[in-house]
Amino acid sequence: MKKFFIQTFGCQMNVYDGQRIASMLTGRGMAQTHDISDADIIILNTCAVRAKATDKVFSALGRIRRAKKPDALFGIVGCVAREAGANAFKRIPELNFVLGPQSYHKLADILQDPDTKLLNIDLGGLEKFDEMPQMSQSPTVAYIPIQEGCNHCCTYCIVPYTRGREISRSFEDVVRDSLHAANTGAIEICFLGQNVNGYRYTDPSGKTYRLSDLIRAIAPLPEIKRIRFTSSYPTEMTDDLIDMFRTEPKLLPFLNMPIQSGSPDVLTRMNRPYELNLYIDIVDKLRVARPDIQISSDFIVGFPGETDGDFEQTLNIARQIKYINSYSFKYSPRPHTAAALMPNQIPENIKAARLAELDATLNEIQRNFNESCVGRTLECLCEGPDKTGRHLVYRTPYMQQCIVAANNDAPSLARIKITAANKASLRGEFSD
Ligand code: 5AD
Ligand code: SF4
Repeated sequence: MKKFFIQTFGCQMNVYDGQRIASMLTGRGMAQTHDISDADIIILNTCAVRAKATDKVFSALGRIRRAKKPDALFGIVGCVAREAGANAFKRIPELNFVLGPQSYHKLADILQDPDTKLLNIDLGGLEKFDEMPQMSQSPTVAYIPIQEGCNHCCTYCIVPYTRGREISRSFEDVVRDSLHAANTGAIEICFLGQNVNGYRYTDPSGKTYRLSDLIRAIAPLPEIKRIRFTSSYPTEMTDDLIDMFRTEPKLLPFLNMPIQSGSPDVLTRMNRPYELNLYIDIVDKLRVARPDIQISSDFIVGFPGETDGDFEQTLNIARQIKYINSYSFKYSPRPHTAAALMPNQIPENIKAARLAELDATLNEIQRNFNESCVGRTLECLCEGPDKTGRHLVYRTPYMQQCIVAANNDAPSLARIKITAANKASLRGEFSD
């Protein structure tokens, strides 16, 4: 039996793509291996959002070239494939395939013909969703892409280049995938998209569906107990969607809505044209709709021209909104983006100092929130055992990690009393 090795880098969309590829290959009679030297086909499913992520892929490829069986096929799929294109073959001449995020279904073609060099980085739209077989079993948390690509064109971001302009999948396709997930083991559905709340699909009769319609359509499924979506663009948080947090109890009280910076000047240069007050108003409306809602953000520090004053405004907004579960990054110049050509690029040491300061602030807010949960009983979803096997890892409705002593009859969805907290996680025990 032929074996495949797949390693996924980057965002949830890539995790989903990796699951689809693995399921397609197992469906064709191959077995998954975690040992590169034993694999007949080796796939790196890649992320290009920061230079470090791309560098990681090429150093991994160098290692694979030496470790693989001589006749094993190897290649890259995903955003680095689209970013590097034919250059990838120049850097690593032995590569067999370079397939962009919307053409990885073409992988099937080379399984028959090991001598082909396959380059396809077209933005083929939604074809891959139709051409890949359904997964036979859904994970407990089913990630379901509803749209792909982004029309926002933030000046730092390579995604509009790698994943293209926004395309929304049809309402029926998303509902069909959700039903399939519910029937094959899913308890939580997470709708995915680079700009998930930009979802907009008009059917042949002219009726337009938004994300709120999708949530309303799948909420009655009895197997599905929790619903969430990621990642949202602030100005597309329309009232119909905000209202879902009031009316739909299965929608988790947690929203990832990246602000990126707290400085109006930096936001303008990032081409994120919203007023801070508008962002704050949206958060206020969300809190009226769902008083216990928590918000998370992504931040970029050291964007070209960012002053100490600009950075101070980022710290202030982080404290004001009290973000939880957030990510912060040093600005990384990317090809095909406008910001890479802007003047006043920030030196690495300043970026590093700002990142450390922002992380310290975010960690403190997270610790305070985690501590405020001690004594509460929360309904949590099991992710599986930890590395030692002595504990189970659960996720709270706010996506915090909660560690519980392992127990053979632990339910997937359990009421857990939170007994302790630190900045990274919670501890808890099963409650009645
Ligand atoms: N440099 C640093 N961080 C970036 N992101 C996107 N592009 C860049 C870049 N060039 C971050 C943003 C985005 C997250 C997925 O990655 O914060 O929300
Ligand atoms: Fe990139 Fe901005 Fe689109 Fe997010 S909204 S994917 S950061 S261009």
